[in-house]
Amino acid sequence: MASPSTAETPAGPAWRRVRRAIGDGLTFWRRSIRTRVVVTIVLLGAVVAGSVGWLLIRQITDGLVHTRVQAAVAEAESETQSARDGLESAGTSDFDPDTQLTKLATTLVSRGDARGYYVVVLGPIGSDKGVGTATGVRKTGGIAESTVPAGLRQAVAKSAGTSWTYTRLRRTDGADGPPSVVVGSRVVLPSDGGTYAIFYVFPMEDEQRTLNLVRRSLLTSGVLLLLLTAGIVFLVTRQVITPVRLARRVAERIASGRLEERMHVHGEDDIARLATSFNQMTDALQQQIRQLVELSRVQRQFVSDVSHELRTPLTTVRMAGDVLHDSRDSFDPVAARAAELLQKELDRFETLLADLLEISRFDAGAAALELAEVNLVDVAHRVVDQASVLAAQRGVRVVVEAPLPCVAEVDERRIERVLRNLVSNAIDHANVRGDARAVVRVGCDPHAVAVTVRDYGVGLRPGESAMVFNRFWRADPARARSTGGTGLGLAIALEDAQLHGGWLQAWGAPEAGAQFRLTVPRRAGDPLAHSPLPLVPEDAAQAQEMGGVR
Ligand SMILES: Nc1ncnc2c1ncn2[C@@H]1O[C@H](COP(=O)(O)OP(=O)(O)OP(=O)(O)O)[C@@H](O)[C@H]1O
Ligand SMILES: [Mg+2]
Repeated sequence: MASPSTAETPAGPAWRRVRRAIGDGLTFWRRSIRTRVVVTIVLLGAVVAGSVGWLLIRQITDGLVHTRVQAAVAEAESETQSARDGLESAGTSDFDPDTQLTKLATTLVSRGDARGYYVVVLGPIGSDKGVGTATGVRKTGGIAESTVPAGLRQAVAKSAGTSWTYTRLRRTDGADGPPSVVVGSRVVLPSDGGTYAIFYVFPMEDEQRTLNLVRRSLLTSGVLLLLLTAGIVFLVTRQVITPVRLARRVAERIASGRLEERMHVHGEDDIARLATSFNQMTDALQQQIRQLVELSRVQRQFVSDVSHELRTPLTTVRMAGDVLHDSRDSFDPVAARAAELLQKELDRFETLLADLLEISRFDAGAAALELAEVNLVDVAHRVVDQASVLAAQRGVRVVVEAPLPCVAEVDERRIERVLRNLVSNAIDHANVRGDARAVVRVGCDPHAVAVTVRDYGVGLRPGESAMVFNRFWRADPARARSTGGTGLGLAIALEDAQLHGGWLQAWGAPEAGAQFRLTVPRRAGDPLAHSPLPLVPEDAAQAQEMGGVR
């Protein structure tokens, strides 16, 4: 039973394969200098060799044909002359044009046979036609009368001299023969026997053969020359390409951090000098990097040492400050105010020192995670509860939106610190109108948990969303130094997020508020591909419009 033909389209995959092959070819062409050099030189070589070959063939052809024509015309003229002499000596008595012409033609044909040319006798020509003239064509057997071109017949009919042209020999069986030279001249039979044209057809078979041989030899040597050139160029480019490839590999290794890699230097040529310069550059870079690394290490050590050294005197100052603070009621008002100020600044000093020590720990790579399964919704509620006093002081309403519990494997202390900083920042910057609010959202998917902290306050200017994470950076340093924090909070929070393999990102627009988003993987260290909550809030456009109006 015949099955119905299915309408499959094999052109699809085939076309894709062809496109892939073309793509691979183009990539190879773009990447391989050697292929480009070889192909270009072979193409240019082919053009040059073709032009030179064409010029040579033309010159040889012209030379051969010219010589052949000269020889043919000379031979034809001498034949015609001896024919005329023969006719004159025949005398005029009992002259029968037919017999005489046949005799003449037979003589010419037999000589032509011996010497390798064909004869065609035509006539009588034009007004010379006498009463008893002979008619008909007399010629060498095998050659067609049409071999003689009409133009040449007319030229011979008009002029008494010798005319010639090129043509192709045509045989009686209709086949074409070799290219030939046809020479025509005319004889006048005595006693008004009429004028007859004699055409000599000289085939140029030998010249043709010679030309074919020359063409074949030129073609063969041309192709050989191109193949040889391609081979030589391939080998020569190897000398240049190989060191360049080695240099690329060494450069890649250096870029991947193996600063001790160097190129081998052979000889004194340009490549060797390139290698020497490359190595010198790498030496200089390595030295600079070493110095920078050392400097950075010394700086980190300095910050760490200073922070540690400050701890002991600070503890003493703190104890003394506490004593003064506790007894401030017995002081005169100015001294009591000084004791209060001292206490406040000591608090800030302690916070700064604690932040500095934490940063030093990150820099030294000493920060380690204490992982546990934690519900981040609980952490968010706890942080917001702790910040409620501050929020009430600043007139900011902080709400938590978390429909589902979101558990992740995190270091609870660090995540709580991050959220505490985000929430206190939001409270600090939210209140621009009196009635302010901040929203903490917690969202999760099977791979990650995200917490966003949104406020509707001053917001961030363009470019600031990246700068907020810089150490000691504050949008308004004058204000922040007296009332705000240390400017280390977000830098520490970013380190904490990265320690979890997570992200901490900021969005903000002037007068439209800001949103910070913390995203951590469910399992610490798992790669993050996306966050369950958007960074740019849905009301961003609306908030920006309102900010602009205000
Ligand atoms: N929600 C926000 N809206 C506007 N600007 C913000 C917001 N959060 C942070 N910033 C800007 O980023 C700066 C750095 O914040 P960061 O938390 O690192 O430091 P800080 O709050 O000033 O001090 P610290 O947190 O160390 O006590 C802030 O001074 C503020 O200018
Ligand atoms: Mg802060």
